[in-house]
Amino acid sequence: MKILVLGSGAGGGFPQWNCNCVNCAGQRSGRIRASERTQSSIAVSGDGLSWVLLNASPDIGEQIRRHPQLHPRHGLRDTPIKAVVLMDAQIDHVTGLLGLREGPCIDLYATRCVFEDLTSGLPLLNVLQHYCGTRWHMLAVDGASTRAEFDIEAVPNLRFTALAIPGKAPPYSPHRREQVVGDNIALRIESLVDGRSLFYSPGLARVGEQELAWMNEADCVLVDGTFWQEDEMQQAGLGSKSASDMGHLPQQGIAGRPGMVDALRESAASRKVLIHINNSNPILDEESAQRRVLDSLGIAVAHDGMEISL
Ligand code: MLT
Ligand code: MN
Ligand code: ZN
Repeated sequence: MKILVLGSGAGGGFPQWNCNCVNCAGQRSGRIRASERTQSSIAVSGDGLSWVLLNASPDIGEQIRRHPQLHPRHGLRDTPIKAVVLMDAQIDHVTGLLGLREGPCIDLYATRCVFEDLTSGLPLLNVLQHYCGTRWHMLAVDGASTRAEFDIEAVPNLRFTALAIPGKAPPYSPHRREQVVGDNIALRIESLVDGRSLFYSPGLARVGEQELAWMNEADCVLVDGTFWQEDEMQQAGLGSKSASDMGHLPQQGIAGRPGMVDALRESAASRKVLIHINNSNPILDEESAQRRVLDSLGIAVAHDGMEISL
């Protein structure tokens, strides 16, 4: 299995266009060692030829331009991107669908909740009907059904499982205050060639026993690295929302509850990688004390262009 990190930043990317925080200003001026990051998305392939996008970032055009694996190969118009799977209906994960409108009809895999949001509060799919259109593949993570296995015909050698996880629906969703099953999923992707597997969850609010079990059985975990601490935005004067308000488990635990670093420390996965890093997170600075903590625990920080072969 091949994994391309197209975008490793959270919503807004890094540096964020309107932000003068120590990280964003430090990156622009070269005062800190940190690389630019576009908004969160990865591409996965089982044969190195056909790719599926996990989330479609607003930075998709630039992301495809930077990755030759995703360029057209045959004929006048072509794309090796065969499908898109959405983890939720957040703006930074879905608005890239509009950037695919020049291509063929999009094979789109998402839950009923996400299809609802994208045809009501943020009616992207209605708009796309006037361009390339979308073919809906409904993932049965809904109500009492908390996991759904599926294959993507045009992306061979991979088996996918969508898993209901604790998280947050987007601010515009009617479910924002009360999450329902299907608002947020993680993906387990297994290679049918050698059985190796990836656990992908760029937005994860809590790691309970179930999530820890999934993180344990995967060879590689690529998980929510949005915030270092719960009150990071408030501390930096950047906003009033906490990590939990936004549905992200910070790396540091909150009041006795374990954080993402604790979960990763327990996980048996051989590769542990944080993704969807917010511009406020001190781990963006490669020389920060927080980054040294991750280094010492064997936890990597995803960067744009990172390639993982499993
Ligand atoms: C989030 O995950 O909470 C988002 O990155 C926020 C956003 O896109 O505005
Ligand atoms: Mn996000
Ligand atoms: Zn910033």
